[in-house]
Amino acid sequence: MLDHLSRAEFKDGYWDYEPGEHVVFAQPTGGGKSRWMYELLQVTMAHYGDALSYRVAIPKRRDEEAARWNAALGLRETPVWPPVPSLRRKPAGWAVWPKHLTAAPGQDPDVILVKDRAHIEKQLKACCMDGYQKGKCIFCADDIYKAAVYLHMNALFSEVLSDGRSMDFGLWGCNTKPSGTKDGSVTSFFWNQPTHYFFGKDTDERNRDRFGEMGGVDPKYISQVVMDLQIHRIGRNNISDQLYISKAGSDGHGGVAMCIIGP
Ligand SMILES: Nc1ncnc2c1ncn2[C@@H]1O[C@H](COP(=O)(O)OP(=O)(O)O)[C@@H](O)[C@H]1O
Ligand SMILES: [Mg+2]
Repeated sequence: MLDHLSRAEFKDGYWDYEPGEHVVFAQPTGGGKSRWMYELLQVTMAHYGDALSYRVAIPKRRDEEAARWNAALGLRETPVWPPVPSLRRKPAGWAVWPKHLTAAPGQDPDVILVKDRAHIEKQLKACCMDGYQKGKCIFCADDIYKAAVYLHMNALFSEVLSDGRSMDFGLWGCNTKPSGTKDGSVTSFFWNQPTHYFFGKDTDERNRDRFGEMGGVDPKYISQVVMDLQIHRIGRNNISDQLYISKAGSDGHGGVAMCIIGP
């Protein structure tokens, strides 16, 4: 039987993050990934303060959850990287959130989409690369599938996932589509390099199959637990319990530790 913890219990007593560790948040859209990622970022920022730099990359046109949390955490939103120089006080961190192009009537949507993605790709890559080169950074890719596949960031992600640790650069990624699609998928380093994994309920077997790539865990068992996770109706949202898997282990000797975290 896995231990069940509340979010508060987990954040207060169990979340033990070391710089350079990578973190996976995986579950279908709307299950509560972004909010949980921001909650953990908040406690991590409180712990490490200025010792690390914090960046969140948002490829979406609109995301109310992200906007709310950027404000709450003091992450200053910038549409470009590097941010425009300013005399304002240095923020606690940055949210790179490029402005999207809008097709005027009569313009070819495909042409606009290609331009739009190229612009967003450039900003997100610049921010990630800069954080990696400087080191001591947490870079959160909210929607890492989109960034990896449509914004062609897989090469950069595989580089930071394999070598980021030595730079104290941790990649945190929210993934709605572990299986990938015919268009592609997130680099497999995203499944075997991280230290921390949070999985929400996922009924798609193809998604759960990817969990086997983590190594060190029984994929059938993980798949079954993820399939059976509870969903809680909260307001208008269906929020999933999270299966947490830590490869750092609870004993400090490299074992795998697991628990279930409520909403
Ligand atoms: N633990 C929670 N309790 C209550 N509401 C939540 C919780 N987690 C997420 N939500 C709400 O559910 C909605 C979807 O959450 P979000 O984090 O944006 O999901 P995702 O990133 O997986 O699509 C948001 O409106 C968010 O505020
Ligand atoms: Mg989200």
